[in-house]
Amino acid sequence: MSEKYTFKILRFDPQTGQAPYWQSYEVPQLKEGMSVLDGLLYIQQYLDGSLGFRTSCRAGVCGSCAMHIAGTYRLACETQVKFLSTTTITVRPLSHIPIIKDLVVDMTPFYEKYEKIKPYLMPGTNDVDEHHERLQSRSDREKLDNIIDCILCGACYASCPMTAADPEYLGPAALMKANRFVVDSRDDNVGERLQIVGDEHGIFRCHTAFNCTEVCPKHLDPAGSIANLKRKHLSVKIMKVRPQ
Ligand code: SF4
Ligand code: FES
Repeated sequence: MSEKYTFKILRFDPQTGQAPYWQSYEVPQLKEGMSVLDGLLYIQQYLDGSLGFRTSCRAGVCGSCAMHIAGTYRLACETQVKFLSTTTITVRPLSHIPIIKDLVVDMTPFYEKYEKIKPYLMPGTNDVDEHHERLQSRSDREKLDNIIDCILCGACYASCPMTAADPEYLGPAALMKANRFVVDSRDDNVGERLQIVGDEHGIFRCHTAFNCTEVCPKHLDPAGSIANLKRKHLSVKIMKVRPQ
């Protein structure tokens, strides 16, 4: 077990007019199972109170501590320093999202895109009246298992080359959420959903790089969701050209 780590952090405060720069801090081994978040909290508390970063749950649930750590996007609270293959740990904020300060990014564009795909159930009106529960079979619910646990951390979005190339691209998290409702047996708005995700900044901008699936800390598969939406979108188009 190393006795100390060097945290090399990308600092930036847009209000100062100063260009981004790297700053290093020496952090002792604080405990067995020390996380990158433990290191950042130590720096903020004992070495430099001006360091900005987000955290809340400290348990991989809220998604607020996603950042680029030692070469890839991860949750700081879930990343134990002993499993990184280095004692010099580089940390920078999520890419393709404006920086507010240091490791704190402005998630507004991410949430605006999320809002565009209407991330809520839109059930039909004919099958069940409003006083009855909308039942779902176990097998239909199981179809949502690998889609539903997104914590909106933004790691997939930051890792995606297309969000860099097209600032309007909806991005993996929003598209996976759209697929979550397309797959849901209780939702009755597939047509509109496919129309939203099929525009010029939607699913067909995805070049299937798989970065999103690789970095997702919840082991979800946004790339698979986007592929499913593409299949559905094309099958609707084909049905329109060749009515059954
Ligand atoms: Fe984070 Fe995974 Fe959700 Fe993307 S799909 S926002 S990486 S939890
Ligand atoms: Fe909530 Fe890391 S602090 S996911």
